[in-house]
Amino acid sequence: MYFELSEEHKMIRDAAREFAQELKAGAIQRDEEAKFPFEFVKKMGELGFMGIMIPQGYGGAGLDTLAYVLALEEIAKIDASAAVIMSAHNSLVLWGINEYGTEEQKQKYLVPLATGEKLGAFALSEPEAGSDASSQHTTAEDKGDHYLLNGTKNWITNGGNADIYLIIAQTDVEKGHKGINVLIVEKGSTGFTIGPKENKLGIRSSDTHSLLFSDVKVPKENRIGEDGFGFRFAMKTLDGGRIGIAAQALGIAAGAYDLALAYSKTRKTFGKPISDHQAIQFKLADMEVEIEAARLLTYKAAWVKDQGLPYSKEAAMAKLHTSEVAMKHTIEAVQIHGGYGYVKEYHVERFMRDAKITQIYEGTSEIQRLVIAREILRA
Ligand code: CAA
Repeated sequence: MYFELSEEHKMIRDAAREFAQELKAGAIQRDEEAKFPFEFVKKMGELGFMGIMIPQGYGGAGLDTLAYVLALEEIAKIDASAAVIMSAHNSLVLWGINEYGTEEQKQKYLVPLATGEKLGAFALSEPEAGSDASSQHTTAEDKGDHYLLNGTKNWITNGGNADIYLIIAQTDVEKGHKGINVLIVEKGSTGFTIGPKENKLGIRSSDTHSLLFSDVKVPKENRIGEDGFGFRFAMKTLDGGRIGIAAQALGIAAGAYDLALAYSKTRKTFGKPISDHQAIQFKLADMEVEIEAARLLTYKAAWVKDQGLPYSKEAAMAKLHTSEVAMKHTIEAVQIHGGYGYVKEYHVERFMRDAKITQIYEGTSEIQRLVIAREILRA
């Protein structure tokens, strides 16, 4: 057991930390105006973060999951919206194309995604298929050389700004989850429209939309994997995605903690800094312990994936715990700031709002418990 990061991992963490400082100045305004950080997404592409785990031969940075987690953590410490844009793109779109796509699909779609020239989105959720992901109502009717796609997808991260979409849809209802496919769909396809942007509580500068498909023709060669592979593809994709959300939640918790710690040393009450009061010290101590524990779970999940071992349980454990730590300690960070925590200039109220989604997307905390329990009982 060795707890020190390699020199390469430290370099990636430091590069992400340096980049994240650039996100700080406009973060409050982007949040207020729900403004997508186009220029920073472009910069993340230039830095290699938009294809961080993809082999260099396909335009990526060729790094591992731990590198990905370290970069996401640093970015989420400052701006969780930028982190989820990067996370959904890498975990939910690029990973699956790289793992299961054909050479043609990789050349056509993976390369521009990995260089950051194009943005990806993953569409599984529907108005009536969130936690119950196999209950797909979007249909991909087999028409010989193409599929005819009809239906609606909901809550799609990068939904408005993506260029390339992975759409999960039911081809054969008789076969249940074994009749589901995953299709690569390009923005601009006839019959594909993007619904209005959601007005969200948090991660407001990332864009979330519904997607509507009306007789969209998708060529057969855009299906990933064998006929009926779509549901397992989605489950496998989400396993990796959950490590990304754990890293995002870790960054949110750590970022709020950094702010609360610094504030506690400068703010004075009863003639001394509030960090001299035991009531605040207890909060800081709990934050230090619980955030470090969440970090270890998250890094371990990344490590297990990088070893090529099964990681569904580790990913769910990291996401469950880290998102709960993020929610709990962003509330505490606001509490330490008192009234100042309740206004926008001090950033912590944004962290508190951003934390909530990490307990919901890519599987609620209840779904993570279900996944963990199934794995325990299967063993
Ligand atoms: N890896 C590989 N295969 C898996 C798998 C995994 N992790 N999990 C399930 N499967 C396979 C099973 O082995 C099974 O295959 P067989 O029939 O061949 O044996 C098949 O998939 C069906 O499995 P289950 O019977 O376990 O499926 P279920 O319907 O009971 O659902 C669930 C299980 C865990 C609840 C699943 O539906 C789930 O994860 N739900 C939550 C979905 C979710 O996270 N949604 C978030 C949307 S994406 C998002 O949020 C993106 C964003 O914006 C950022």
